[in-house]
Amino acid sequence: MKGLKGKTALITGAARGIGRAIALRLAAEGANVAVGDINLEGAETTAREAAQSGVKAIALKLDVTRAEEAAVAVARVQQELGALDILVNNAGWDHTEPFADSTAETWDKVIAINYRGVLNCCKAAIPALKGRPAARIVSIASDAGRVGSSGEAVYSGCKGAVIAFSKTLARELARERVNVNVVCPGLTDTALLRDAMAGREKLLESITRSIPLRRIGQPEEVAAAVAFFASADADYITGQVLSVSGGLTMAG
Ligand SMILES: NC(=O)c1ccc[n+]([C@@H]2O[C@H](COP(=O)([O-])OP(=O)(O)OC[C@H]3O[C@@H](n4cnc5c(N)ncnc54)[C@H](O)[C@@H]3O)[C@@H](O)[C@H]2O)c1
Repeated sequence: MKGLKGKTALITGAARGIGRAIALRLAAEGANVAVGDINLEGAETTAREAAQSGVKAIALKLDVTRAEEAAVAVARVQQELGALDILVNNAGWDHTEPFADSTAETWDKVIAINYRGVLNCCKAAIPALKGRPAARIVSIASDAGRVGSSGEAVYSGCKGAVIAFSKTLARELARERVNVNVVCPGLTDTALLRDAMAGREKLLESITRSIPLRRIGQPEEVAAAVAFFASADADYITGQVLSVSGGLTMAG
């Protein structure tokens, strides 16, 4: 992909799953990467794997729910990697249950990680991104945020909020040459999905049958969409939402 060589990216929640695949793909495209996660050990492993592509890679302990940690992470990226060109908001978490059974405590945690975490990281990163020649914010929402998902009411609300927020930010930052786009994974083969579907394998099978492409996605397939938005091939694309879901969702 064009224009990623020598760029610097911060990817949140990149110790495992989709975030790890994004870090490895951006590194393979020649970008230096900062791997942020609450799981520092996992982040260090991802950073070591990314460095095998011959780029600079650092691991950062980052809890996206804490604004001060987001600010420190951005400062460290600037100090240790020279600049920040690309922010990928990937960290996410969910607890699957009917909304009627859920508690305000769970809502707070889901909102803090999936929505407020995106706000914290954008707020911290924007001053660093402004003034870069072709800066990018790519946020990972979910098809749940486009069409809803049973058992994921508050999570779906957060992901819908990430989409609306990103469109607004795309408008506000267009003059600063910061493009803001969203990738919505469908069912993707990660620990998050396996935990959510534990004991409900029959349900997973029946959802899989309803996916036009008849399989769940791989983290690398989401990473490919992120790499595209981050690249110079997407210079004229901002405020857009792309589902990577085997056709499960065909939202207008
Ligand atoms: N897997 C799917 O089917 C699927 C579908 C739609 C959307 N998504 C979204 O994709 C993103 C990645 O999901 P995944 O499946 O790879 O999940 P995962 O659970 O495998 O990985 C999530 C990572 O985020 C980290 N994390 C959690 N809370 C954090 C915090 N407060 N600060 C920093 N890091 C934190 C975890 O330590 C973990 O490394 C999430 O935003 C998720 O909502 C996933």
